[in-house]
Amino acid sequence: MLWASLLALAAVVQALPSGELEQRQGGVTMLRFGCAQVVIDRLDPLVNPGSIPSPHVHQIVGGNGFNASMTTGDVSNTASCTTCAFSEDFSNYWTANLYFKARNGTYKRVPQLGAARQFNDDYSTKIGGGILVYYVSAQPGKITAFKPGFRMLVGDPTSRSRKDSTLKRQNCFRCYTGPNFGGDVSAPCQDAKIDTEALPTGPCKGGIRSNILFPTCWDGKNLDSPNHQDHIAYPTTGPATFLSLGGSCPSTHPVRIPQLMYEVVWDTTAFNNKAEWPADGSQPFYFSYGDNTGYGQHADYVFGWKGDSLQKAMDTSNCMGAKCGTLKTQAIDAGKKCSVNRVVQEDHDGWIKELPGINMGNMGNMQQA
Ligand SMILES: *[C@@H]1O[C@H](CO)[C@@H](O)[C@H](O)[C@H]1NC(C)=O
Ligand SMILES: *[C@@H]1O[C@H](CO)[C@@H](O)[C@H](O)[C@H]1NC(C)=O
Repeated sequence: MLWASLLALAAVVQALPSGELEQRQGGVTMLRFGCAQVVIDRLDPLVNPGSIPSPHVHQIVGGNGFNASMTTGDVSNTASCTTCAFSEDFSNYWTANLYFKARNGTYKRVPQLGAARQFNDDYSTKIGGGILVYYVSAQPGKITAFKPGFRMLVGDPTSRSRKDSTLKRQNCFRCYTGPNFGGDVSAPCQDAKIDTEALPTGPCKGGIRSNILFPTCWDGKNLDSPNHQDHIAYPTTGPATFLSLGGSCPSTHPVRIPQLMYEVVWDTTAFNNKAEWPADGSQPFYFSYGDNTGYGQHADYVFGWKGDSLQKAMDTSNCMGAKCGTLKTQAIDAGKKCSVNRVVQEDHDGWIKELPGINMGNMGNMQQA
């Protein structure tokens, strides 16, 4: 996201009643940093722990503690390196991959771009294949960082239509209308004319950006829940928009947690020739879980910051971008040296006949996440 986000941020600060500003000890913080890819694999330790393979392919970034059975415990102790710019962040972040389905019925994985240069941060521009991560503490009052072992999921991979209008603004796509992140003019998921909940229907000259936001309230007790969502909640007024205050947290989930957002830029530019799109006019882009609507977009998170480093950042006023107080950072070359060996050996780069693990003829019966 580009400079326009700063304007949005300034608006947030101005909109804060002064009392709340004092309570917040004078600051809005937005960590925005890149994490290069640590592995692409068909694993999902959150939803399908121990399953090798899991139902669909993911792209994973962050610490090298990632494995199929990392079900509990503090991943900051098991990881020894991270692909993220903040070298104390051993968290794992993952999403589904995107594929292009050509007219002849075969699929090819869509590559990803790095992020637009912002806040003098070069690291995030070089994460091609990675995820840009945001942690925002733009709410009044105390923001409590996640605890070791905390994990969560947002989105519903079985969703193929808009089920709940309150979930608007938590998952959206932007069609970049030109090269170099063209059309990156405002904060994500707020203006339905610019950001859609479904995948864009026409070719996007600069690629497609995905943004996924997580809920901002926690029950204060459980590090996880059976569906990986019940221990977290939206404010009583509904999901908070990016960088906004949101309303109060519900009494069942009273603890305000950082607003976490993922941003991925899919480089669809090699697939913009409509003569190669399916002849029936259907959407050519498919997520790895067999979805060409985009409504099922989802994201997974396993917290893994070392010690109280994230809490310190959330308590520090006015951090913007990939630097904050005493948080340690690393160079992109070091980040890219960190990796996890792929466990499920599949072709992730060639033209493939089927999405790995997905039987498109049997989608209706599939129990998958
Ligand atoms: C997976 O990670 C967990 C900790 O998160 C560790 O206990 C376990 O030994 C790891 N398994 C493998 C096969 O590396
Ligand atoms: C299918 O179409 C794509 C894109 O036009 C092409 O690159 C690929 O070689 C084709 N594969 C087969 C098996 O024809």
